[in-house]
Amino acid sequence: MGQITQLPQLIPADAGKPVRPEAAASQQASRQLALQPSSWSREQADETVRRYTELATVWEGERGGYRPVPLGDALQRGGPWPAGLCLEIGCGTGLLSGLVQQVWPRVVSLDLTWAMLSRSTAPWRVLGDASRLPVPDGSARAVVLADVPLFAAEIVRTLSADGVVVWSNALGEDAPHHVPIATVLETLEDASDAAWSAVMSHAGWGLWAVLRRER
Ligand SMILES: C[S@@+](CC[C@H](N)C(=O)[O-])C[C@H]1O[C@@H](n2cnc3c(N)ncnc32)[C@H](O)[C@@H]1O
Repeated sequence: MGQITQLPQLIPADAGKPVRPEAAASQQASRQLALQPSSWSREQADETVRRYTELATVWEGERGGYRPVPLGDALQRGGPWPAGLCLEIGCGTGLLSGLVQQVWPRVVSLDLTWAMLSRSTAPWRVLGDASRLPVPDGSARAVVLADVPLFAAEIVRTLSADGVVVWSNALGEDAPHHVPIATVLETLEDASDAAWSAVMSHAGWGLWAVLRRER
């Protein structure tokens, strides 16, 4: 497996980190899905939409304060960044889209849940499923995933060979959508039949990783 380089944490974690009681079960499901993306079903998609439709009205009010921290740190320290089109997968309400646009002015922001996506003011919004991205092969130079399910084969298909993957979990190893970075790396390697490496760090309550193919 490719190398994972850990950078020092610069943004400390304050007291009062939220606890998500559903995290353990959700992490197991997220990891299982990352390893077996073909297990994604209509029922899971419907359940995801139902859950985030309930959360949409309170998402930014309850979670908006801490969620940008790790992605912001990743974008500060994880470069250099290739210029071109960026796919923001699972963009939700667009809470993080402004940060992404500061690095990539052309961003396609995609989400499965209309109640989340309809709150976003990002310029290019797409209602869609990360398991079947509605974009051509090799069209993106960057894919950003902030607390979303991992469909590595679709990322590899849509990303150019010199593209970059930015991953973040706003509650770090305790986030419901957390998948160990080694697993993220491995699934990208399996899907591309190529070696990848990662740089990662923690920031606030969260963590991030930037993954690239080895040259
Ligand atoms: C934890 S929220 C994160 C939202 C946003 N990235 C943020 O950090 O505020 C997860 C988002 O991923 C979306 N999502 C879940 N499964 C998805 C899929 N298969 N395809 C596209 N979006 C998905 C959900 O609808 C939800 O908006």
